[in-house]
This record gives sequence, structure tokens and C-alpha cells, in this order.
Amino acid sequence: MKHFLEVRNLSKNFLLHILNDKHIPALEDISFSMDQGEIIGLTGKSGSGKSSLMKCVYRTYLASGESMVYDSSTFGPIDLIEATEHQILRIRKEEMTYCSQFLNVIPRVPAVEIVAESLLVKGVAENEAFRRSREFLERLGLPAELWDAYPSTFSGGEQQRINVARSIISQPRFLLIDEPTASLDQKTKDVVIEAILEMKRSGTSVILITHDEYTLTKLADRELKLVGGRICEAEAATA
Ligand SMILES: Nc1ncnc2c1ncn2[C@@H]1O[C@H](COP(=O)(O)OP(=O)(O)OP(=O)(O)O)[C@@H](O)[C@H]1O
Ligand SMILES: [Mg+2]
Repeated sequence: MKHFLEVRNLSKNFLLHILNDKHIPALEDISFSMDQGEIIGLTGKSGSGKSSLMKCVYRTYLASGESMVYDSSTFGPIDLIEATEHQILRIRKEEMTYCSQFLNVIPRVPAVEIVAESLLVKGVAENEAFRRSREFLERLGLPAELWDAYPSTFSGGEQQRINVARSIISQPRFLLIDEPTASLDQKTKDVVIEAILEMKRSGTSVILITHDEYTLTKLADRELKLVGGRICEAEAATA
């Protein structure tokens, strides 16, 4: 059967020039596959390689290994290790969204505009994009007086809500999301979880990194645990 994503024997070494070209093996011999509409929960201790694996899928990091075939709606099955920069940029624009652990935005852009931008690049009309962004920020419990403020001064949880909002509002086909609920209170956590489940119901496939057992149990169809850069065990998380 054709998988949505099939990773075979992937590895990633970092070469540290500053330490006499020391090799750091961050990921070794990673193989797994996922289907469309599935949510994989990527877990493991700090430093086990979770974010690195996610960045390899998004191609922020160029991995080595056999193959990482993604069933793209634009290109059909495509090996993300070998895809050209042009193909990767197109996939990122149209299909795959990466939500990092930390909010990284251009200074002096208001919160609502950061969220709306995700819809504007997909061709949504300006009025509609801003209306939906305000609605989503309200749903996430971000106080209205912050919508037009700059997120660089926001609290950790407020920044995280902007980060999550801009990643999921456009309902990408493939979502890579790193620790979406880490600094959220229970109520907001539940809103984020419900929003991700809504996306899943409309067909989005998700790789989710989380240290939070509650989020994992609510969201993941399957857990992929990393230990020292290797997959340790695959077990079903019961929702
Ligand atoms: N760009 C890089 N250059 C050098 N080493 C790196 C780089 N990125 C990650 N590493 C190393 O790879 C290993 C895995 O890091 P990674 O960020 O993937 O861990 P993680 O599982 O996401 O941890 P956390 O739960 O703390 O976010 C670490 O030893 C880290 O220092
Ligand atoms: Mg990480």
C-alpha cells in the first residue's frame, strides 16, 4: 500500500567544525511510515532527536539514508531527501506546515497579521483572512487588546498561541508541530487539541512532538518513541 510518508533508514549527523569536525549522530537508522489522516506522536527525552527528525522531514536539515518518500498532492510520491529546493519550497507553500517549539517572527508585526498571513498566502481575501484570524485568536483565549500588539513582548503561552494559530488556521495537508501545548493552561490546551482533531477529521496528517501525556493520549493514533536518536518502540496510544 502507498503510504502518506515512508521513511527508510534515515540518519542525521551533525559535523561540528568548532570541535575539530566532531560528528554528532543525532538520528540513526530511522524507519517508519504513516498514512493520510494519521497523527503520530513523537516522544522521547530532551535531546533524543525529536526536533531534528521533524526538521529532516521539513528539510530544514538535509538527512542522509535510503529514502523519505512523501505522497505529495502536487508532485505525487517524492523523496524529500533528494527533492530540489524548488520542489521543497512549493510543498511548504501548498502542503506542509512546520510549527516550531518557539515563536520566531519579524519584529513589529501585529499578532493578528502574523496569523492572517498564513491565509493570505493561500489566496484568502484580506477581510476574510483577518476576520478568521481574530475569531481563532478569540477561540484560543488571547485577550482582544493583544491582537494588534507585537508578540515579541508576549508571555510564553501567548506567543505559543500565536505560533499554533498561524500554523493550523490554514488547515495544511501535512502538519509538523513541535510541543504545541507545552506552556498552555488546561482550557487552552483543550482548545488546541480540539482544533487539531478537527483538522484530522478533514484529512490532515500530523507529526506531533509532545512531552505532555495528556496531549499525547488525546491526539496520537500511534506513538513513536526516540531514545538516543533511534526509534525505541511503537505503541498505540489510546485516545
Ligand atoms: N543544528 C545542530 N547542530 C549541532 N547539533 C545539533 C543541531 N540540532 C540538534 N543537534 C543535536 O542533536 C541532538 C538532538 O537534538 P533535538 O533538538 O533533535 O532534540 P529533542 O529531542 O527535540 O529535544 P527537546 O525535547 O529538548 O526539544 C542533540 O544532542 C542536539 O544537541
Ligand atoms: Mg525539540
